[in-house]
Amino acid sequence: MGDVKAASLAYRPRPCDTYGLAGILTTLTGQPTPLRLTVMSTEALLEQLYDTPETDLIEDIRRIRAELDGQVLILGHHYQREEVFAFADVSGDSLRLSQQAAATHTPYIVFCGVHFMAETADILTSDEQTVILPDPAAGCSMADMADSPQVEACWRELATVIDPDATVTPVTYINSAATLKAFCGEHGGIVCTSSNARRVMEWAWGQRQKILFFPDRHLGENTAVAMGIADEDMIVWDPNQPMGGNSRQAIERARLILWNGFCSVHQLFRPEHVDTMRRAHPGIRVAVHPECSRAVCEKADFIGSTEAIIRDVAAAPAGQAFAIGTELNLVNRLRLQHPDKPVYFLSPMVCMCSTMFRTDPQHLYASLKAIRDSRELNRVVVPPEIKRWGKISLQRMLDLG
Ligand code: 13P
Ligand code: SF4
Repeated sequence: MGDVKAASLAYRPRPCDTYGLAGILTTLTGQPTPLRLTVMSTEALLEQLYDTPETDLIEDIRRIRAELDGQVLILGHHYQREEVFAFADVSGDSLRLSQQAAATHTPYIVFCGVHFMAETADILTSDEQTVILPDPAAGCSMADMADSPQVEACWRELATVIDPDATVTPVTYINSAATLKAFCGEHGGIVCTSSNARRVMEWAWGQRQKILFFPDRHLGENTAVAMGIADEDMIVWDPNQPMGGNSRQAIERARLILWNGFCSVHQLFRPEHVDTMRRAHPGIRVAVHPECSRAVCEKADFIGSTEAIIRDVAAAPAGQAFAIGTELNLVNRLRLQHPDKPVYFLSPMVCMCSTMFRTDPQHLYASLKAIRDSRELNRVVVPPEIKRWGKISLQRMLDLG
């Protein structure tokens, strides 16, 4: 068994900070890398692009995209802003995009999404392929709520009560660092997305009596509730408290240990928003993402991943009104795509993923230009030992279909 723990500790990308090629090389070599000129020229280019009229910029992206035909695959998550989403060769939810990354042979993948998605793509592609995240500061606040030292510490604390390697299957939501996917690979665990969480959890309980689910408490809890798991069989693990804030008896009894993480966007939807919508629009169908709290999901008519919500709206008859509890860019797109179905945003507040929004046409153009000029810019590289174990947990998920 390779030393994935040492590799995980050494590899600490800070996805919500800005780091470019210089940052990646510094991470890999441990030495500050004098690449200021590359970084400066990119900044200067971006500044220039922000002064370029948007219509010209869109035309420039089209042109450079055509020049790179066959060399680049642009993947776009459903939460991307419209101007960027329009350039995606393939759009989808996290599962679909990871399946696409695993299947493609193009030399470059430009991932219009967030950092964990680009890391996942790098794990699933060959060493000859290059994965680019147009804005390296596009992280995920939920993914940042669990890191490798915290999960290792949790495993050690569990080991004072039970034998985790014999009794616990670790399951990480794909919205997590590559190091946690590697942890799951090494400990007989698996990755899940919001569209296959139930299938993955059935598999995980088929392996061992208990599941440790991280980092999203809500996805784990909502899926378990739908599977008929009793409240007494679930505990929440708070990484800031000894034993996660649980007694030995509670740990012994639990079938599901839920990490206390959440999505800062989806937590803004509240159960009272569902009541307000139902009062204002009798007959409305409420569709929400499973990253919403249990209280919201229990009041909804439909719970599903972004892809499942899109299918649900498409399948409804004309005239059916919807209140949708997921990120704003997707809800706005659904409204435009279905003028015959009134589509409302579930919350009266703006729930937008600010990190997804970071990828703009300027960063997309800069990424494509760097590829065209054979310059490395904002490449996401997962170190080999983490990649090896991360691939095992991702492949277990992909094999479930
Ligand atoms: P899915 O697109 O897989 O449903 O995930 C939503 C999300 O929050 C991505 O970060
Ligand atoms: Fe992360 Fe939430 Fe944004 Fe998805 S919507 S990328 S979970 S912060």
